[in-house]
Amino acid sequence: MCGIVGAVAERSITPILVEGLKRLEYRGYDSAGVAVFTQSGQLQRCRRVGKVAELAQALAGEPLNGHLGIAHTRWATHGAPSERNAHPHFSGEELAVVHNGIIENHEELRSRLQGLGYVFSSDTDTETIVHLLQHKLQQLGDLAAALKAAIPELHGAYGLAVISAKQPDRILAARSGSPLVIGLGLGENFLASDQLALRQVTDRFMYLEEGDIAEIRRDSVQIWDASGQSVQREQVQYHEGAEAADKGAYRHFMLKEIHEQPKVVQRTLEGRLGTDHVLVQAFGPQAEELFAKVRNVQIVACGTSYHAGMVARYWLEGLAGIPCQVEVASEFRYRKVVVQPDTLFVSISQSGETADTLAALRNAKELGYLASLAICNVGISSLVRESDLTLLTQAGPEIGVASTKAFTTQLVGLMLLTLSLGQVRGTLEAGVAPELVEELRRLPTRLGEALAMDKTVEKIAELFAEKHHTLFLGRGAQYPVAMEGALKLKEISYIHAEAYPAGELKHGPLALVDSDMPVVTVAPNNELLEKLKSNLQEVAARGGQLIVFADQQAGMSNGAGTHVVNMPHIHDALAPILYTLPLQLLSYYVAVFKGTDVDQPRNLAKSVTVE
Ligand code: M6R
Repeated sequence: MCGIVGAVAERSITPILVEGLKRLEYRGYDSAGVAVFTQSGQLQRCRRVGKVAELAQALAGEPLNGHLGIAHTRWATHGAPSERNAHPHFSGEELAVVHNGIIENHEELRSRLQGLGYVFSSDTDTETIVHLLQHKLQQLGDLAAALKAAIPELHGAYGLAVISAKQPDRILAARSGSPLVIGLGLGENFLASDQLALRQVTDRFMYLEEGDIAEIRRDSVQIWDASGQSVQREQVQYHEGAEAADKGAYRHFMLKEIHEQPKVVQRTLEGRLGTDHVLVQAFGPQAEELFAKVRNVQIVACGTSYHAGMVARYWLEGLAGIPCQVEVASEFRYRKVVVQPDTLFVSISQSGETADTLAALRNAKELGYLASLAICNVGISSLVRESDLTLLTQAGPEIGVASTKAFTTQLVGLMLLTLSLGQVRGTLEAGVAPELVEELRRLPTRLGEALAMDKTVEKIAELFAEKHHTLFLGRGAQYPVAMEGALKLKEISYIHAEAYPAGELKHGPLALVDSDMPVVTVAPNNELLEKLKSNLQEVAARGGQLIVFADQQAGMSNGAGTHVVNMPHIHDALAPILYTLPLQLLSYYVAVFKGTDVDQPRNLAKSVTVE
């Protein structure tokens, strides 16, 4: 998704802008550009389709040196990926704008501005912003005043930054629905859509809130809130996750993030477990009182986070006896929903900025839910700010577009929710909470043991190098794990993969099974194991190639066309967390064999902040 970087400094800012864009590459983009107020007293820009490296190369050939600039990585929404649609967009030679988000009334603005004589050179919604600002600037003469006057005319979501050749000592920024953070330096200041972009230059940050407008100069920052009042925003010193933008010894961020899971699961549990129970206050001061009233749970999320919600449904109903519905946010937000009394609305999101999930939460607030809870990895995200209760996962920044550690920490958060609701409502069977709390404490060690199979899984991945289709099977709470395994394989290896509950095989998908169709299965040792084994017989009998990740006590062994990988034994309730790991490794190694762009798969963005 799009990324913004800006800088105003005494030193040359172009290297800072380019490095910032590189740090935002993980979000996914199709083109990149910078605009700099150069030493010749002009606004000049350089834009390229493709990677930031190509932009950097172009800038090496024709340097843009200056002390004020803005930069952008674009993920196309209005207009194809092309140089003319790449940001920054200019109005004449005076103003440059970069923008994340969508201006919904861009067509009406465009025709109005064209009527006023402005000539458009791109197909983007963003270009309407820069001409509108120019129009206001001509009337008002001051950039901050122009931005304040333009904002009420912009409908939609935006984080934007603007610079002017006539006032070349400042960056103006505005936030509505798309995050922005100011990086504070000594005699220099910065702006970005994600603080990761600025970790190279500062560790002090100020997060803009919804409706804020900021004027950023070398030695001052002024912020006005949505009502136009001058406000101070808290300065935050950032320590955590400095290492996250670095691959270390790993070949890809995804592999690094897979291997971080024991550590981040441990962190997600820290401070949340009592001796034999979950500390319900982990969900916030009002949690205990609210949870006591919960009679139903509605979960809404997208992609991998939706799969986490699907697992949670088995837990909430199976362990805590609480009815639960789970729906993808893009459907929920447009459906007429019947809300059961005393239903807790739970949204799950790594980023906390996913447009559909946020919209679903905003709709839910109008629908009479008891309260809203966000399970999220980003404490300063919109989802967190707009929810009544929050449980922050502690995965640290996730750079690989394919979500890994965010998923397993979400599952941990959802298990904590299940136990908390069950404790408060008194619906857990005796002994369940103490037993699972003990198992949760052991979980990081179990995850470490599963990751020790890295090389075994790498070997198995070779079987997929020439395949075009794969089936993933699971039963019970392992069905969503199979769905997540299939999503991972599709995302990064581009192999078509589908997940089925194993019992559905004979109702259709069995017709696809032959020696060209590997079938991947997760088989913990539970009451469904014998049924699963019969399903696998059906595959073997048709010459299908089976890859089974099975509990070491499941009594399964290699046979003709069947590869069994023994997994550490684990409590059945936590098996979805453990069995996710080999599927992540499998996708990773298949993608490496195929030579795809593992961390930035084609057509995908890390944070989907548009609909
Ligand atoms: O940030 P979110 O968790 O809300 O993102 C939701 C999905 O876009 C995300 O999980 C996506 O499916 C990932 N690429 C999966 O690997």
